[in-house]
This record gives sequence, structure tokens and C-alpha cells, in this order.
Amino acid sequence: MKKLLAPSILSADFSNLQQSVRAIELAGCEWLHCDVMDGHFVPNITFGPLVVAALKRITSLHLDVHLMISEPDKYIRAFADAGSDTITVHQETVNHLHRTITSIKETGRQAGVSINPSTPVSTLENILEYVDLVLVMSVNPGFGGQKFINTSLRKIAQLAEVRNRDGLNFQIEVDGGIDRDTIRQCSDAGCDVFVAGNAVFKADNITASAIELMNIINQN
Ligand code: DX5
Ligand code: ZN
Repeated sequence: MKKLLAPSILSADFSNLQQSVRAIELAGCEWLHCDVMDGHFVPNITFGPLVVAALKRITSLHLDVHLMISEPDKYIRAFADAGSDTITVHQETVNHLHRTITSIKETGRQAGVSINPSTPVSTLENILEYVDLVLVMSVNPGFGGQKFINTSLRKIAQLAEVRNRDGLNFQIEVDGGIDRDTIRQCSDAGCDVFVAGNAVFKADNITASAIELMNIINQN
């Protein structure tokens, strides 16, 4: 499966999103990760469909929308209409995960499910065959720039094993505390999509740091 870097716009300069997007396009990135937070499921508030729609107008990057919000079902249509390419919900936020995943797919978008650091992979056992992507949170969601939680590596490896055993084809994505070292460890564990916020957008040279991270995952 192709390995992809998905820089998180959360760490970018919000006074000039277009410039930030151009810098990662120049590096050859294909995905852009969009962190949506509601101040309820997570202790921070970011942005909604309006910003996703604005990004859609300025780029053809794959918009990977990570919903860290309570009651995501209410907003799936709005994020689909805004131009999200993948919509990921948290397992912890929905009562009927199969219904939620089905409703994302009905919009024609790819459907992902995410688990917090303390949520085991086993909670996803009956949904894996229906999803396009599983996002393993390697920090407690809410903020960029946190330290990578090591048990995430075991969860990535478990997912890779189940995918292989059952002949499934969902992508495995990791999010939080990704840097030059942890990206290699996640890649070795079987991860395919790597979200990086601070490691890309807080670097002196955004393009160069994205290229450096992509080189590491493509060596593996
Ligand atoms: C955390 C967000 C992450 C975050 C990653 O709640 O979901 O996407 O922006 O940022 P870094 O790479 O700085 O940990
Ligand atoms: Zn995220």
C-alpha cells in the first residue's frame, strides 16, 4: 500500500493558509489533514466545514477530515458538501458505528474510524471490513505538539496483522507526535498514512521538512 504524508493544517499559519498549502504541494504531498474540534469531545475548538470548503477551492490535495466532535452524524452531510475526501469519526463519539460509516459512504466520500490512545483495537473488530481507513491516535486528541504515546505502535501492528489475516484493505493512519524518529517506527509497524503537524508546519522550511519525512517513509 502506498505510504503517504498528511500534514495537519492545524499547525499552519492561519493568516495565510494558501501559502502553507503551496509549501506542501511543492514537496509533493498528496494529502492534507484537517483537524475539526468542537470544545466538547476534545478540550479545544478549531474550525468547521467553512474552512474545509475554502481549502477545497485552493487545492486539489486529498482532504483528510478528522472529526473530533460529539454527535458527528449531524455534520457528515456538511463536511461532505464542503469537499472532504475522507471523513473520519471517533469510535468513542458514536453509538451506532456501522450506521455512521454507512452514511459517510452514501455521500460518496471515504469513511474512516479513529480510536483514542486508551481505546483498544478490539473495539473495531466488527467494523474493519466496512471502513476505508483506521486512524490510530498516538496522542490524546486536542492539540498539536504533544508527545507520541508508544503503545500506539502495538496497535498499528495489530491492525496490520488483522488486515493481512482477513484480506482487508483499509489504510492505517497515525496521528500525533510524529517526527523523524516516530515516523520510522510507525512505518516499520505497518502504518500507511502519517499525520504530521508541528514537524512540518513549525519547521523553518516547510517544504524541506515534508520532503525529509516522505523520504523516511519511502525508504521503508
Ligand atoms: C491532535 C490532532 C493532530 C495534531 C498533530 O488532536 O488530531 O492532527 O494536529 O499535531 P502534531 O504532529 O504536532 O502532534
Ligand atoms: Zn488529526
